[in-house]
Amino acid sequence: MSDKIFIFDTTLRDGEQAPGNQLNMVEKIEIAKTLETLGVDVIEAGFPISSPGDFQSVVEISKAVSNPTICALTRALKKDIEVAADSLKYAKSPRIHTGIGTSYNHIYHKLRSTPEQIIEQGIQAVKYAKSFVEQVEFYAEDAGRTDNQFLAQVVEEMIKAGATVINIPDTTGYCLPHEYGEKIQYLIENVPNIHKAILSTHCHNDLGMATANTMAGILNGARQVEVTINGVGERAGNTALEEVAMAIKCHNLGLVTGINTPKLTHASKLVSRLMNNFVQTNKAIVGKNAFAHSSGIHQDGVLKMRQNYEIIDPKDVGVDTSSIVLTARSGRAALKHRLQKLEFNLTKEELDIAYENFLILADKKKEINDSDLIILINKEKRRERRLIKVKKLQVVCGKSMIPTATVTLKIKGENQTTTAIGDGPVDAALSAIKKLIPFKVHLEEYLVQAITGGTEDVGKVSVIITHDDKTYYGIGADTDVITASAEAYVDAISKIFAHIK
Ligand code: KIV
Ligand code: ZN
Repeated sequence: MSDKIFIFDTTLRDGEQAPGNQLNMVEKIEIAKTLETLGVDVIEAGFPISSPGDFQSVVEISKAVSNPTICALTRALKKDIEVAADSLKYAKSPRIHTGIGTSYNHIYHKLRSTPEQIIEQGIQAVKYAKSFVEQVEFYAEDAGRTDNQFLAQVVEEMIKAGATVINIPDTTGYCLPHEYGEKIQYLIENVPNIHKAILSTHCHNDLGMATANTMAGILNGARQVEVTINGVGERAGNTALEEVAMAIKCHNLGLVTGINTPKLTHASKLVSRLMNNFVQTNKAIVGKNAFAHSSGIHQDGVLKMRQNYEIIDPKDVGVDTSSIVLTARSGRAALKHRLQKLEFNLTKEELDIAYENFLILADKKKEINDSDLIILINKEKRRERRLIKVKKLQVVCGKSMIPTATVTLKIKGENQTTTAIGDGPVDAALSAIKKLIPFKVHLEEYLVQAITGGTEDVGKVSVIITHDDKTYYGIGADTDVITASAEAYVDAISKIFAHIK
């Protein structure tokens, strides 16, 4: 039988208190419901004494979710505990999380107290919290820098006072994994009543060790982990929920969590969007590149067998499929594979042309996605069919200059060049094209769209022109919007040529 690791999510408390992460009530409830679906065991919903908003959030979250325990944070103060208890009145399974600093720094330089007074204040807080709720969690703030012998004494007293969970926070993110693991082991071996409580980890990421420390805590006997989605939290953040959940799932440690891992990506995106907090692209599990393979060798390896370069099946975290990102370094095999997935089955000659065009685009644009490829292939097919083609386009424009375009068109096999001016660079280019064609056209509509975000991305231009009361549509796409405009215009004009031929 595997041991259960309880997941205590503090996205809405430690995560939300970090600068820029503030949420309104509706957003908090949406996240709380998502955490419930994700399968977390405890939701730390706020610090009720800190503001009326935080108080109300705990009330509303208690009403909105049913399965997880709802936890409210307090200092080891009577007033804090009363307010927390009040905020938890609708929770089906309420928990008060109270505590006090135990490190030398915190005792003498923050609380200006003594070790004896700290223990006494902690005992009183736990007893008082216990008079309101059954589940009382005690945190020994800055336990990471607290002397282990003193910490063991604190833990023993808090369990005697009624604490059911003991949190050992590495508040400043100072510990190394072996130190944090040894701390947990020390408590298990030296606190006589330790079997009456669950030990919890709460690691900050100041040295990038949060997940490693949490795992060290678990491997040494901790059975609850305090984590946040995307690792959001004070300063460098907290341990990321998704990292611990997947580390436990990937390794055969005799441990399980209740996390429904295919929901991780959705939870990550939601928290990122609502907190306006971008997830770094190379973030483990939920980063944009977590399942992307860009080098030719890796792509070839993954295509042969996914496990060659992936330890996690993307589906296990809610990502549809591992995406082979195409770049200028990608080979023909990767391009062919992606095109086949998009249902373009090209002949060898067509693939050669597509690959040449792909490399030109990949030189301009770092990554080529599916929309780029669809445009690239369709553009080539359209170009082949056209009776007139843009061979060259040069536009000169800038501040205090008259936009001037020189265009060479290949019309029915013959190159023709002219120059025109315009109100802007696009107008100049279209005017030059107009001068080269032997009939009148009128531009009815002109629309530019970015296919994906970003300044280096492909712009798609759609035009509608009229000739002899008939309407013709044209499409052009390029990383340069003036070229895309000329291509779209010529695409539409080419249809008039076909019509009057
Ligand atoms: O980091 C910390 O010590 C905390 C406690 C309040 C649990 O967030
Ligand atoms: Zn914290």
